[in-house]
Amino acid sequence: MVVRHRISLIVISTALLSLLIIGFVLSADVKKSQKELTIGERFHHETSLTWRHVIGDFLSFKPKKPPQYKTYPEAKLVRLPDPDYRGMIVEDAIKNRRSVRNYSARSLSIHQLSQLLFAAQGTTGKMYGQPLRSTPSAGALYPFEVYLIVNNVQGMSPGIYHYALLKHALELIKAGDFSSKITDAGLEQDMLGESDVTFVLSAIFDRTRHKYGERGYRYVYIEAGHISQNIYLQAVSLGLGSVSVGAFLDHKMNDLIGVDGRKEAVIYVHAIGTL
Ligand SMILES: Cc1cc2nc3c(=O)[nH]c(=O)nc-3n(C[C@H](O)[C@H](O)[C@H](O)COP(=O)(O)O)c2cc1C
Repeated sequence: MVVRHRISLIVISTALLSLLIIGFVLSADVKKSQKELTIGERFHHETSLTWRHVIGDFLSFKPKKPPQYKTYPEAKLVRLPDPDYRGMIVEDAIKNRRSVRNYSARSLSIHQLSQLLFAAQGTTGKMYGQPLRSTPSAGALYPFEVYLIVNNVQGMSPGIYHYALLKHALELIKAGDFSSKITDAGLEQDMLGESDVTFVLSAIFDRTRHKYGERGYRYVYIEAGHISQNIYLQAVSLGLGSVSVGAFLDHKMNDLIGVDGRKEAVIYVHAIGTL
């Protein structure tokens, strides 16, 4: 009787000990695998939606909503012609789109520039009194600002401009030739200095983050693709060449347009030129 009792005690304690060891090994493994996640994997993992995240996010801290429009009240305003160009059918633009990195010496017209800006972030309608834009945006929160490095546009001084989309006009931030500065910021990709104009797309994260929390970052990156694709297709329709550029030195590109790289940062760049 005593022997049987002892045997069952040994069996139970062995089972408990094994469970403890398995638990320890498994938890160490989970910790190890979490530690081994790369920064990109962690970003994707931690901004993934589960119901737990949805509820947690609902309760979590959200930043204040920044102003919807950025303006440079002191800047000289350059009015743009109406974007009334009618070009090729969309199926042909999709079929003919290619990334083009060599441009002719001819300059871009201000009509072409106006059309490209409209395609990128022009206003196309209203909902509940709020202007809607040419590209979709999560929650219609529109985190993007459009800056231009103008090298060779008829009737415009070279310089850095900001798109005042409500007025469909440009604000001159800094006059001058910035072709070598943008090439330097763009890892010496020559087309950035040789383009007629380069679009620099920056995002103010809190515009999206104040509603969607950290997942908002994903939406911002997705939206950059929408804008760039519109520029690509519009450029094809206008008979221009263009290429999107994701490889650049962030701090130099941010410095060039005067944003801090944290609250507002350059996400994507797009060079355009005549053929
Ligand atoms: C996110 C992203 C980043 C890119 N970055 C660059 C870049 O830094 N430099 C460049 O020359 N092309 C860049 N490209 C253009 C690609 O090289 C190009 O789309 C690809 O070679 C396919 O060619 P296609 O656009 O002519 O179809 C980028 C494209 C994407 C979508």
